[in-house]
Amino acid sequence: MPRERSQYVCQSCGAVSPKWSGRCDACGEWNTLVEEAPRESVPRGLSGKGGRKIQFVGLEGAPQPAPRRITGIAEFDRVCGGGLVPGSALLIGGEPGIGKSTLLLQVAAALAGSARSAYVSGEEAVDQLRLRAERLGVADAPVGLAAATSVRDIAASLDAAAGPEVVVVDSIQTMFVDSLESAPGTVAQVRASAQELIRLAKRRGFSVLMVGHVTKDGQIAGPRVLEHMVDTVLYFEGDRSHQFRILRAVKNRYGATDEIGVFEMSDAGLVEIANPSALFLAERAEAVAGTTVFAGMEGSRPMLVEIQALVAPSALGTPRRAVVGWDSGRLAMVLAVLEARCGLTLAGADVYLNVAGGLRIAEPAADLAVAAALVSSATQVPVPADSVVFGEIGLSGEVRPVAQADARLKEAAKLGFTRALTPPSRRRGGSGEGTGVRAVRHVQELVDLFGGKGRESWPNGAGADRMGRPLKRRARHG
Ligand code: TYD
Ligand code: MG
Repeated sequence: MPRERSQYVCQSCGAVSPKWSGRCDACGEWNTLVEEAPRESVPRGLSGKGGRKIQFVGLEGAPQPAPRRITGIAEFDRVCGGGLVPGSALLIGGEPGIGKSTLLLQVAAALAGSARSAYVSGEEAVDQLRLRAERLGVADAPVGLAAATSVRDIAASLDAAAGPEVVVVDSIQTMFVDSLESAPGTVAQVRASAQELIRLAKRRGFSVLMVGHVTKDGQIAGPRVLEHMVDTVLYFEGDRSHQFRILRAVKNRYGATDEIGVFEMSDAGLVEIANPSALFLAERAEAVAGTTVFAGMEGSRPMLVEIQALVAPSALGTPRRAVVGWDSGRLAMVLAVLEARCGLTLAGADVYLNVAGGLRIAEPAADLAVAAALVSSATQVPVPADSVVFGEIGLSGEVRPVAQADARLKEAAKLGFTRALTPPSRRRGGSGEGTGVRAVRHVQELVDLFGGKGRESWPNGAGADRMGRPLKRRARHG
Protein backbone atom coordinates (compact mmCIF):
# COMPACT_ATOMS: atom_id res chain seq x y z
CA MET A 1 0.00 0.00 0.00
CA PRO A 2 1.18 3.52 -0.63
CA ARG A 3 1.88 4.24 3.03
CA GLU A 4 3.23 7.72 2.39
CA ARG A 5 -0.17 8.83 1.14
CA SER A 6 -1.96 8.10 4.40
CA GLN A 7 -3.07 11.12 6.33
CA TYR A 8 -3.62 11.71 10.02
CA VAL A 9 -6.82 13.31 11.16
CA CYS A 10 -7.39 14.86 14.56
CA GLN A 11 -10.51 13.29 16.10
CA SER A 12 -11.13 16.40 18.08
CA CYS A 13 -10.88 19.25 15.61
CA GLY A 14 -10.62 17.49 12.26
CA ALA A 15 -7.26 19.00 11.30
CA VAL A 16 -5.37 16.93 8.75
CA SER A 17 -1.68 16.32 9.12
CA PRO A 18 0.70 14.39 6.85
CA LYS A 19 2.44 12.67 9.74
CA TRP A 20 1.53 11.36 13.13
CA SER A 21 2.33 13.21 16.29
CA GLY A 22 1.23 12.85 19.88
CA ARG A 23 -0.36 16.26 20.04
CA CYS A 24 -2.53 17.99 17.47
CA ASP A 25 -0.86 21.16 16.25
CA ALA A 26 -4.16 22.79 15.53
CA CYS A 27 -6.11 22.31 18.75
CA GLY A 28 -3.49 21.09 21.19
CA GLU A 29 -5.34 17.91 22.16
CA TRP A 30 -3.24 14.86 22.96
CA ASN A 31 -3.56 11.45 21.31
CA THR A 32 -6.22 12.48 18.87
CA LEU A 33 -4.41 11.92 15.56
CA VAL A 34 -5.58 8.78 13.79
CA GLU A 35 -4.47 7.40 10.46
CA GLU A 36 -6.97 7.53 7.64
CA ALA A 37 -7.10 6.44 4.06
CA PRO A 38 -6.45 9.41 1.82
CA ARG A 39 -9.49 10.98 0.29
CA GLU A 40 -9.76 10.73 -3.45
CA SER A 41 -8.15 13.96 -4.44
CA VAL A 42 -10.32 16.49 -6.18
CA PRO A 43 -8.67 17.88 -9.30
CA ARG A 44 -8.25 21.60 -8.94
CA GLY A 45 -8.41 24.36 -11.49
CA LEU A 46 -10.68 22.69 -14.03
CA SER A 47 -11.83 26.11 -15.27
CA GLY A 48 -14.96 24.74 -16.88
CA LYS A 49 -13.28 22.36 -19.29
CA GLY A 50 -14.09 18.69 -19.63
CA GLY A 51 -16.72 16.90 -17.52
CA ARG A 52 -20.05 15.55 -18.55
CA LYS A 53 -23.05 17.88 -18.53
CA ILE A 54 -25.64 16.93 -15.94
CA GLN A 55 -29.34 17.25 -16.65
CA PHE A 56 -31.41 19.53 -14.45
CA VAL A 57 -35.04 18.61 -14.02
CA GLY A 58 -38.02 20.38 -12.51
CA LEU A 59 -39.51 19.82 -9.08
CA GLU A 60 -42.78 18.52 -10.48
CA GLY A 61 -43.16 14.98 -11.77
CA ALA A 62 -44.36 11.83 -10.10
CA PRO A 63 -41.76 10.55 -7.64
CA GLN A 64 -41.69 6.83 -7.04
CA PRO A 65 -42.42 6.09 -3.41
CA ALA A 66 -39.54 4.09 -1.99
CA PRO A 67 -40.49 0.43 -1.81
CA ARG A 68 -40.26 -0.94 1.70
CA ARG A 69 -39.38 -4.19 3.28
CA ILE A 70 -41.75 -4.68 6.16
CA THR A 71 -40.46 -6.67 9.11
CA GLY A 72 -43.84 -7.14 10.76
CA ILE A 73 -42.34 -5.85 14.02
CA ALA A 74 -44.60 -2.82 14.01
CA GLU A 75 -42.60 -0.77 16.50
CA PHE A 76 -39.46 -1.22 14.41
CA ASP A 77 -41.17 -0.55 11.10
CA ARG A 78 -42.70 2.69 12.31
CA VAL A 79 -39.41 4.03 13.65
CA CYS A 80 -37.82 3.28 10.26
CA GLY A 81 -40.54 5.28 8.56
CA GLY A 82 -42.56 2.28 7.39
CA GLY A 83 -40.07 -0.49 6.80
CA LEU A 84 -36.57 -0.80 5.39
CA VAL A 85 -35.78 0.92 2.12
CA PRO A 86 -33.69 -1.21 -0.26
CA GLY A 87 -30.21 0.23 -0.67
CA SER A 88 -30.40 2.20 2.56
CA ALA A 89 -27.95 2.20 5.41
CA LEU A 90 -29.05 2.26 9.03
CA LEU A 91 -27.01 2.78 12.12
CA ILE A 92 -28.34 1.36 15.36
CA GLY A 93 -26.52 2.88 18.29
CA GLY A 94 -26.74 1.98 21.92
CA GLU A 95 -24.79 1.08 25.01
CA PRO A 96 -23.26 -2.37 25.18
CA GLY A 97 -25.74 -4.87 26.58
CA ILE A 98 -28.84 -2.83 25.88
CA GLY A 99 -30.17 -5.36 23.37
CA LYS A 100 -29.03 -4.29 19.90
CA SER A 101 -27.92 -7.74 18.80
CA THR A 102 -31.12 -9.26 20.08
CA LEU A 103 -33.27 -6.72 18.26
CA LEU A 104 -31.41 -7.08 14.97
CA LEU A 105 -31.42 -10.86 15.06
CA GLN A 106 -35.18 -10.65 15.54
CA VAL A 107 -35.41 -8.19 12.64
CA ALA A 108 -33.25 -10.36 10.38
CA ALA A 109 -35.36 -13.40 11.24
CA ALA A 110 -38.61 -11.54 10.70
CA LEU A 111 -37.47 -10.44 7.24
CA ALA A 112 -36.10 -13.82 6.28
CA GLY A 113 -39.49 -14.97 5.02
CA SER A 114 -39.77 -12.25 2.42
CA ALA A 115 -36.16 -11.31 1.69
CA ARG A 116 -32.79 -13.02 1.76
CA SER A 117 -31.26 -11.89 5.02
CA ALA A 118 -27.83 -12.25 6.50
CA TYR A 119 -26.32 -11.57 9.90
CA VAL A 120 -22.59 -10.93 10.09
CA SER A 121 -21.20 -10.83 13.59
CA GLY A 122 -17.77 -9.66 14.57
CA GLU A 123 -18.53 -10.11 18.24
CA GLU A 124 -20.06 -13.51 18.64
CA ALA A 125 -19.34 -16.97 17.31
CA VAL A 126 -21.88 -18.71 15.10
CA ASP A 127 -22.73 -21.13 17.91
CA GLN A 128 -23.55 -18.25 20.22
CA LEU A 129 -25.80 -16.73 17.59
CA ARG A 130 -27.57 -20.04 17.12
CA LEU A 131 -28.12 -20.30 20.84
CA ARG A 132 -29.60 -16.84 20.91
CA ALA A 133 -31.81 -17.64 17.91
CA GLU A 134 -33.08 -20.68 19.74
CA ARG A 135 -33.86 -18.63 22.82
CA LEU A 136 -35.68 -16.09 20.68
CA GLY A 137 -37.64 -18.84 18.99
CA VAL A 138 -36.44 -17.93 15.50
CA ALA A 139 -34.02 -20.82 14.93
CA ASP A 140 -35.95 -22.02 11.89
CA ALA A 141 -35.77 -18.67 10.04
CA PRO A 142 -33.54 -18.89 6.96
CA VAL A 143 -31.00 -16.27 8.04
CA GLY A 144 -27.45 -16.61 6.73
CA LEU A 145 -25.10 -16.42 9.72
CA ALA A 146 -21.41 -15.59 9.57
CA ALA A 147 -18.72 -14.62 12.01
CA ALA A 148 -16.37 -12.27 10.20
CA THR A 149 -14.57 -8.98 10.68
CA SER A 150 -12.71 -8.36 7.44
CA VAL A 151 -14.67 -5.94 5.29
CA ARG A 152 -12.85 -7.22 2.24
CA ASP A 153 -14.18 -10.75 2.86
CA ILE A 154 -17.64 -9.51 3.75
CA ALA A 155 -17.88 -7.29 0.68
CA ALA A 156 -16.71 -10.12 -1.57
CA SER A 157 -19.43 -12.35 -0.15
CA LEU A 158 -22.19 -9.77 -0.44
CA ASP A 159 -21.27 -8.63 -3.94
CA ALA A 160 -23.22 -11.27 -5.83
CA ALA A 161 -26.42 -11.22 -7.86
CA ALA A 162 -28.13 -13.65 -5.50
CA GLY A 163 -26.59 -11.99 -2.45
CA PRO A 164 -28.60 -11.03 0.60
CA GLU A 165 -31.18 -8.25 0.49
CA VAL A 166 -30.87 -7.34 4.15
CA VAL A 167 -27.55 -7.44 5.97
CA VAL A 168 -26.91 -6.92 9.67
CA VAL A 169 -23.35 -5.97 10.61
CA ASP A 170 -22.75 -6.38 14.34
CA SER A 171 -20.84 -4.25 15.17
CA ILE A 172 -19.16 -1.74 12.91
CA GLN A 173 -16.49 -1.22 15.59
CA THR A 174 -15.23 -4.77 15.11
CA MET A 175 -14.90 -4.47 11.34
CA PHE A 176 -11.65 -3.56 9.64
CA VAL A 177 -10.39 -2.63 6.22
CA ASP A 178 -7.01 -4.28 5.67
CA SER A 179 -5.58 -1.38 3.70
CA LEU A 180 -5.50 0.72 6.87
CA GLU A 181 -3.00 0.15 9.60
CA SER A 182 -5.02 1.47 12.50
CA ALA A 183 -6.78 -0.94 14.81
CA PRO A 184 -10.46 -1.87 14.47
CA GLY A 185 -12.65 0.52 16.40
CA THR A 186 -10.64 3.61 15.57
CA VAL A 187 -12.39 6.38 13.73
CA ALA A 188 -10.47 5.64 10.58
CA GLN A 189 -11.43 1.98 10.54
CA VAL A 190 -15.02 2.60 11.54
CA ARG A 191 -15.39 5.21 8.85
CA ALA A 192 -13.65 3.23 6.13
CA SER A 193 -15.56 0.04 6.94
CA ALA A 194 -18.89 1.80 6.94
CA GLN A 195 -18.09 3.64 3.74
CA GLU A 196 -17.22 0.40 2.01
CA LEU A 197 -20.39 -1.35 3.18
CA ILE A 198 -22.64 1.59 2.39
CA ARG A 199 -21.22 1.97 -1.11
CA LEU A 200 -21.84 -1.70 -1.75
CA ALA A 201 -25.35 -1.50 -0.29
CA LYS A 202 -26.25 1.35 -2.64
CA ARG A 203 -24.81 -0.47 -5.62
CA ARG A 204 -26.34 -3.86 -4.83
CA GLY A 205 -29.58 -2.51 -3.40
CA PHE A 206 -29.46 -4.32 -0.08
CA SER A 207 -30.32 -2.67 3.22
CA VAL A 208 -27.45 -2.65 5.65
CA LEU A 209 -28.08 -2.37 9.39
CA MET A 210 -24.94 -1.51 11.29
CA VAL A 211 -24.63 -1.76 15.03
CA GLY A 212 -22.59 0.97 16.65
CA HIS A 213 -21.67 0.88 20.31
CA VAL A 214 -22.07 4.10 22.13
CA THR A 215 -19.40 5.09 24.57
CA LYS A 216 -20.14 6.31 28.05
CA ASP A 217 -20.38 9.96 27.09
CA GLY A 218 -23.17 9.14 24.68
CA GLN A 219 -21.27 9.20 21.42
CA ILE A 220 -20.85 6.44 18.95
CA ALA A 221 -17.15 5.68 19.05
CA GLY A 222 -15.48 7.68 16.37
CA PRO A 223 -17.20 10.97 17.25
CA ARG A 224 -20.40 10.45 15.39
CA VAL A 225 -18.49 10.00 12.18
CA LEU A 226 -21.10 7.68 10.85
CA GLU A 227 -24.20 9.74 11.41
CA HIS A 228 -23.83 11.80 8.25
CA MET A 229 -22.95 8.80 6.12
CA VAL A 230 -26.00 6.67 6.81
CA ASP A 231 -29.61 7.28 5.83
CA THR A 232 -31.10 6.51 9.19
CA VAL A 233 -29.76 6.72 12.71
CA LEU A 234 -31.62 4.87 15.42
CA TYR A 235 -30.71 4.82 19.06
CA PHE A 236 -31.68 1.96 21.27
CA GLU A 237 -31.89 3.16 24.81
CA GLY A 238 -33.29 2.29 28.14
CA ASP A 239 -32.47 2.04 31.75
CA ARG A 240 -30.63 -1.15 32.67
CA SER A 241 -32.79 -1.49 35.75
CA HIS A 242 -35.98 -1.31 33.72
CA GLN A 243 -37.49 -3.78 31.32
CA PHE A 244 -38.37 -1.15 28.75
CA ARG A 245 -36.26 -0.42 25.73
CA ILE A 246 -36.89 2.48 23.45
CA LEU A 247 -35.84 2.67 19.83
CA ARG A 248 -35.59 6.28 18.78
CA ALA A 249 -35.04 7.71 15.30
CA VAL A 250 -32.72 10.71 15.40
CA LYS A 251 -32.16 10.98 11.67
CA ASN A 252 -34.17 9.46 8.87
CA ARG A 253 -33.98 10.29 5.20
CA TYR A 254 -36.99 8.06 4.63
CA GLY A 255 -39.28 9.02 7.45
CA ALA A 256 -40.01 11.23 10.42
CA THR A 257 -37.53 11.58 13.23
CA ASP A 258 -38.49 11.56 16.88
CA GLU A 259 -40.57 8.48 16.33
CA ILE A 260 -40.05 5.96 19.06
CA GLY A 261 -40.69 2.27 19.32
CA VAL A 262 -41.21 0.75 22.73
CA PHE A 263 -40.16 -2.76 23.59
CA GLU A 264 -40.09 -4.84 26.68
CA MET A 265 -37.28 -7.24 27.41
CA SER A 266 -38.27 -10.80 28.10
CA ASP A 267 -36.66 -14.23 28.23
CA ALA A 268 -37.77 -14.74 24.65
CA GLY A 269 -36.33 -11.46 23.39
CA LEU A 270 -37.86 -8.08 22.79
CA VAL A 271 -41.62 -7.87 22.84
CA GLU A 272 -43.20 -4.86 21.19
CA ILE A 273 -45.46 -2.67 23.24
CA ALA A 274 -48.32 -1.32 21.18
CA ASN A 275 -49.76 0.84 23.95
CA PRO A 276 -46.88 2.37 25.89
CA SER A 277 -49.02 4.78 27.92
CA ALA A 278 -50.77 1.91 29.65
CA LEU A 279 -47.39 0.37 30.36
CA PHE A 280 -45.75 3.51 31.70
CA LEU A 281 -48.69 4.12 34.00
CA ALA A 282 -49.11 0.50 35.03
CA GLU A 283 -47.10 0.85 38.21
CA ARG A 284 -48.90 3.99 39.21
CA ALA A 285 -50.56 3.90 42.59
CA GLU A 286 -53.29 6.30 43.69
CA ALA A 287 -52.74 10.02 43.80
CA VAL A 288 -49.62 10.69 45.81
CA ALA A 289 -48.24 14.15 46.47
CA GLY A 290 -45.45 14.86 44.02
CA THR A 291 -46.65 12.86 41.05
CA THR A 292 -48.40 14.03 37.90
CA VAL A 293 -49.28 12.39 34.64
CA PHE A 294 -47.84 14.23 31.69
CA ALA A 295 -49.63 13.91 28.36
CA GLY A 296 -46.69 13.94 25.98
CA MET A 297 -46.06 13.31 22.31
CA GLU A 298 -43.33 11.06 21.01
CA GLY A 299 -43.17 11.69 17.31
CA SER A 300 -46.63 11.08 15.94
CA ARG A 301 -47.78 9.18 18.97
CA PRO A 302 -49.24 10.54 22.19
CA MET A 303 -47.77 9.01 25.29
CA LEU A 304 -48.73 9.42 28.91
CA VAL A 305 -45.99 9.19 31.50
CA GLU A 306 -45.80 9.78 35.19
CA ILE A 307 -43.56 12.53 36.46
CA GLN A 308 -42.41 12.25 40.04
CA ALA A 309 -40.90 15.01 42.11
CA LEU A 310 -39.59 15.08 45.62
CA VAL A 311 -38.93 18.39 47.32
CA ALA A 312 -37.26 17.84 50.66
CA PRO A 313 -35.51 20.13 53.14
CA SER A 314 -31.80 20.04 52.45
CA ALA A 315 -29.05 19.46 54.97
CA LEU A 316 -26.50 20.73 52.50
CA GLY A 317 -25.29 24.24 51.86
CA THR A 318 -25.87 23.71 48.17
CA PRO A 319 -29.09 21.73 47.81
CA ARG A 320 -29.12 18.72 45.52
CA ARG A 321 -30.86 18.79 42.19
CA ALA A 322 -31.10 15.33 40.65
CA VAL A 323 -32.98 14.60 37.43
CA VAL A 324 -33.66 11.32 35.68
CA GLY A 325 -35.28 11.39 32.26
CA TRP A 326 -35.47 15.13 31.80
CA ASP A 327 -33.17 18.06 31.18
CA SER A 328 -31.62 19.46 34.35
CA GLY A 329 -31.32 22.94 32.84
CA ARG A 330 -35.03 22.91 32.16
CA LEU A 331 -35.71 21.88 35.77
CA ALA A 332 -33.60 24.79 37.00
CA MET A 333 -35.70 27.11 34.83
CA VAL A 334 -39.01 25.80 36.13
CA LEU A 335 -37.74 26.12 39.71
CA ALA A 336 -36.58 29.67 39.05
CA VAL A 337 -39.93 30.63 37.56
CA LEU A 338 -41.79 29.14 40.53
CA GLU A 339 -39.59 31.13 42.90
CA ALA A 340 -39.51 34.41 41.03
CA ARG A 341 -43.08 34.56 39.74
CA CYS A 342 -45.02 32.67 42.38
CA GLY A 343 -43.02 33.35 45.52
CA LEU A 344 -42.35 29.71 46.35
CA THR A 345 -39.18 29.16 48.32
CA LEU A 346 -37.39 26.16 46.96
CA ALA A 347 -33.82 27.41 47.14
CA GLY A 348 -33.17 25.61 50.42
CA ALA A 349 -34.69 22.33 49.33
CA ASP A 350 -33.28 19.27 47.64
CA VAL A 351 -35.20 18.57 44.46
CA TYR A 352 -35.40 15.17 42.79
CA LEU A 353 -37.22 14.69 39.54
CA ASN A 354 -37.88 11.38 37.88
CA VAL A 355 -39.69 10.32 34.74
CA ALA A 356 -41.12 6.93 35.60
CA GLY A 357 -40.40 3.90 33.46
CA GLY A 358 -37.00 4.97 32.14
CA LEU A 359 -38.33 7.20 29.36
CA ARG A 360 -36.44 10.37 28.42
CA ILE A 361 -38.59 13.39 27.71
CA ALA A 362 -37.26 16.21 25.57
CA GLU A 363 -40.45 18.21 25.08
CA PRO A 364 -40.84 21.64 26.68
CA ALA A 365 -44.52 20.71 26.95
CA ALA A 366 -43.60 18.82 30.09
CA ASP A 367 -42.85 22.09 31.95
CA LEU A 368 -46.30 22.47 33.43
CA ALA A 369 -46.44 18.84 34.51
CA VAL A 370 -43.05 19.19 36.17
CA ALA A 371 -44.21 22.37 37.90
CA ALA A 372 -47.34 20.60 39.09
CA ALA A 373 -45.30 17.70 40.47
CA LEU A 374 -42.93 20.10 42.23
CA VAL A 375 -45.67 22.22 43.77
CA SER A 376 -47.59 19.11 44.74
CA SER A 377 -44.56 17.69 46.50
CA ALA A 378 -43.72 20.96 48.20
CA THR A 379 -47.27 21.35 49.49
CA GLN A 380 -48.04 17.68 50.05
CA VAL A 381 -51.26 18.20 48.14
CA PRO A 382 -51.70 15.51 45.53
CA VAL A 383 -52.76 16.19 41.99
CA PRO A 384 -56.02 14.32 41.45
CA ALA A 385 -55.30 10.86 40.10
CA ASP A 386 -57.60 11.25 37.12
CA SER A 387 -55.95 14.34 35.65
CA VAL A 388 -53.22 14.91 33.08
CA VAL A 389 -51.10 18.03 32.71
CA PHE A 390 -49.18 19.58 29.83
CA GLY A 391 -47.98 23.01 28.71
CA GLU A 392 -44.80 24.97 28.14
CA ILE A 393 -43.76 27.58 30.69
CA GLY A 394 -42.17 30.86 29.65
CA LEU A 395 -39.74 32.85 31.76
CA SER A 396 -42.37 35.31 32.89
CA GLY A 397 -44.48 32.44 34.14
CA GLU A 398 -46.92 32.41 31.27
CA VAL A 399 -48.13 29.05 30.03
CA ARG A 400 -47.76 28.63 26.30
CA PRO A 401 -49.73 26.52 23.88
CA VAL A 402 -48.13 23.33 22.67
CA ALA A 403 -48.60 21.30 19.53
CA GLN A 404 -51.18 18.55 19.19
CA ALA A 405 -53.23 19.32 22.29
CA ASP A 406 -56.16 17.39 20.85
CA ALA A 407 -54.16 14.21 20.34
CA ARG A 408 -52.88 14.41 23.91
CA LEU A 409 -56.35 14.90 25.33
CA LYS A 410 -57.74 12.09 23.23
CA GLU A 411 -55.11 9.68 24.51
CA ALA A 412 -55.78 10.78 28.09
CA ALA A 413 -59.51 10.23 27.66
CA LYS A 414 -58.84 6.81 26.16
CA LEU A 415 -56.95 5.81 29.30
CA GLY A 416 -59.68 6.99 31.61
CA PHE A 417 -58.43 10.42 32.63
CA THR A 418 -61.25 12.88 33.07
CA ARG A 419 -59.48 16.11 33.93
CA ALA A 420 -56.69 18.03 32.27
CA LEU A 421 -54.68 21.14 32.95
CA THR A 422 -53.70 22.57 29.60
CA PRO A 423 -52.30 25.75 28.12
CA PRO A 424 -54.81 28.24 26.77
CA SER A 425 -56.02 27.05 23.41
CA ARG A 426 -54.72 28.78 20.31
CA ARG A 427 -58.20 28.71 18.86
CA ARG A 428 -60.85 31.08 20.17
CA GLY A 429 -63.38 29.35 22.34
CA GLY A 430 -61.08 26.49 23.23
CA SER A 431 -60.93 23.11 21.66
CA GLY A 432 -64.05 22.10 23.54
CA GLU A 433 -63.07 18.69 24.81
CA GLY A 434 -65.19 17.62 27.72
CA THR A 435 -65.86 19.56 30.86
CA GLY A 436 -62.71 18.48 32.68
CA VAL A 437 -60.32 20.61 30.64
CA ARG A 438 -59.00 23.66 32.39
CA ALA A 439 -56.77 26.16 30.64
CA VAL A 440 -53.98 27.59 32.80
CA ARG A 441 -52.64 30.96 31.66
CA HIS A 442 -49.97 31.51 34.26
CA VAL A 443 -48.09 29.24 36.67
CA GLN A 444 -49.58 31.25 39.52
CA GLU A 445 -52.96 29.79 38.58
CA LEU A 446 -51.43 26.34 38.88
CA VAL A 447 -49.93 27.15 42.27
CA ASP A 448 -53.28 28.54 43.45
CA LEU A 449 -54.87 25.20 42.76
CA PHE A 450 -52.81 23.75 45.54
CA GLY A 451 -54.06 26.18 48.11
CA GLY A 452 -52.03 29.34 48.59
CA LYS A 453 -48.70 31.09 48.47
CA GLY A 454 -45.51 30.04 50.14
CA ARG A 455 -44.74 26.66 51.60
CA GLU A 456 -45.70 27.45 55.21
CA SER A 457 -49.20 28.51 54.33
CA TRP A 458 -49.99 25.42 52.29
CA PRO A 459 -52.61 23.57 54.25
CA ASN A 460 -52.49 19.84 54.00
CA GLY A 461 -54.99 18.50 51.53
CA ALA A 462 -56.75 21.77 50.95
CA GLY A 463 -57.32 23.11 47.52
CA ALA A 464 -57.10 19.89 45.61
CA ASP A 465 -60.82 19.84 45.18
CA ARG A 466 -60.70 23.15 43.41
CA MET A 467 -59.42 21.27 40.41
CA GLY A 468 -62.70 19.44 40.18
CA ARG A 469 -64.31 16.80 42.24
CA PRO A 470 -63.03 16.18 45.76
CA LEU A 471 -60.20 13.77 46.10
CA LYS A 472 -60.98 10.24 47.07
CA ARG A 473 -57.67 9.71 48.77
CA ARG A 474 -55.20 12.06 50.29
CA ALA A 475 -51.52 11.53 50.68
CA ARG A 476 -50.25 10.82 54.10
CA HIS A 477 -48.56 13.93 55.31
CA GLY A 478 -44.98 13.54 56.46
P1 TYD B 1 -27.57 -7.98 23.56
O1 TYD B 1 -28.60 -8.06 22.50
O2 TYD B 1 -26.41 -8.92 23.43
O3 TYD B 1 -27.04 -6.51 23.74
P2 TYD B 1 -26.05 -5.65 22.80
O4 TYD B 1 -25.95 -6.31 21.49
O5 TYD B 1 -26.67 -4.30 22.72
O6 TYD B 1 -24.73 -5.57 23.49
O7 TYD B 1 -28.32 -8.24 24.94
C1 TYD B 1 -27.66 -8.19 26.19
C2 TYD B 1 -28.10 -9.26 27.13
O8 TYD B 1 -29.43 -9.11 27.51
C3 TYD B 1 -27.98 -10.63 26.54
O9 TYD B 1 -27.32 -11.45 27.50
C4 TYD B 1 -29.36 -11.11 26.35
C5 TYD B 1 -30.15 -10.32 27.32
N1 TYD B 1 -31.50 -10.02 26.80
C6 TYD B 1 -32.60 -10.78 27.19
O10 TYD B 1 -32.47 -11.73 27.95
N2 TYD B 1 -33.85 -10.46 26.70
C7 TYD B 1 -34.03 -9.42 25.85
O11 TYD B 1 -35.18 -9.14 25.43
C8 TYD B 1 -32.88 -8.64 25.45
C9 TYD B 1 -33.02 -7.48 24.52
C10 TYD B 1 -31.66 -8.98 25.96
MG1 MG C 1 -24.22 -7.21 20.71
